[in-house]
Amino acid sequence: MILGERDPEVKAGVQDVDMSGQTVLVTGSTNGLGRQAAVAMGRLGADVIVHGRDQAAGESAVQELEGLGSDAQFVSADYTDVTAVREMAAEVETAVDEIDVLCNNAGGLFEDGERTDLGVDLNFHINHLSPFLLTTELLDTLASDARVITTASIGHRVSSLNLDALIEPGPFSEWAAYCQSKLANIHFSNELARRLDNAGSDVTSNSFHPGIIPGSEFSRALPGPIQQFGDLLDDVPLTDSPEDGAATMAYLAASGDVEGDTGKYYARCRKRRPAPDARDETAQRDLWKRSADLLGIEEPLADYA
Ligand SMILES: NC(=O)c1ccc[n+]([C@@H]2O[C@H](COP(=O)([O-])OP(=O)(O)OC[C@H]3O[C@@H](n4cnc5c(N)ncnc54)[C@H](OP(=O)(O)O)[C@@H]3O)[C@@H](O)[C@H]2O)c1
Repeated sequence: MILGERDPEVKAGVQDVDMSGQTVLVTGSTNGLGRQAAVAMGRLGADVIVHGRDQAAGESAVQELEGLGSDAQFVSADYTDVTAVREMAAEVETAVDEIDVLCNNAGGLFEDGERTDLGVDLNFHINHLSPFLLTTELLDTLASDARVITTASIGHRVSSLNLDALIEPGPFSEWAAYCQSKLANIHFSNELARRLDNAGSDVTSNSFHPGIIPGSEFSRALPGPIQQFGDLLDDVPLTDSPEDGAATMAYLAASGDVEGDTGKYYARCRKRRPAPDARDETAQRDLWKRSADLLGIEEPLADYA
């Protein structure tokens, strides 16, 4: 844990970075660590696009950012809905000239066994397929040196990717689906990094684990008594806060230390080695192609695999 309740940008040591003139899109920034990171980047001077489904929470985040002098706006899209994500990408393209930082953060741990309209597991769809779609739709809107940042999880370490189980109907635990979707986040981030690099682009793509944050998504998904226990952990100094989680996002968005770094995985503002499964390039290429197939789109950056 990074001790003390300092602001994320201070925890990350980027409080003196000037992000004015930069446009940042943080998905899942109505709540949790996404909101903390969005506001932190607003304090650094960035213009921020807030995303989520909750209109009231989105407007309150925009108000907070405007109070800091940020030119902020809210876009709403349900990540279970492919059309909504496409419309969100079109709305963003119209609203801004360029995106300097795209943070793929929306997500969480969702109900057991639920399938989306595409017939795939809910965790896999919200946590992986939608950010894949949004990012590939926005490729032409990214600044030439943009940073794409994906919120993964340490949970990736306890799973191997079984795409057939995520795609075919059948019993599947929410925890297994969640961990696989977070492994998919690292695969996606690394495959994007490789293809952009092969294309000669200076856009970078990195992923990170934000920490274990009681009172946030994990404890909300637990049964009542365990949830209350989870809430108690808020006061335990060995767990992380949303500010801690947001610190690594702010670090990857703003720090000069990571300039040019791509295809890397971070935790607590430091480069880490992800699990062996997360370094499997064949699995990354396969996931990329199958994600495009599932969404019924042409394989993005197909010439640069
Ligand atoms: N908390 C942890 O301990 C932990 C650990 C490892 C990784 N993570 C990852 O960190 C990220 C943020 O988690 P958090 O803890 O900050 O969670 P959170 O407090 O529950 O916030 C989740 C955000 O995602 C958005 N979201 C959720 N479902 C959505 C949907 N169907 N469509 C569009 N937006 C949706 C929410 O917005 P609306 O409610 O407005 O839709 C909210 O802004 C997630 O990717 C999570 O997997 C968290």
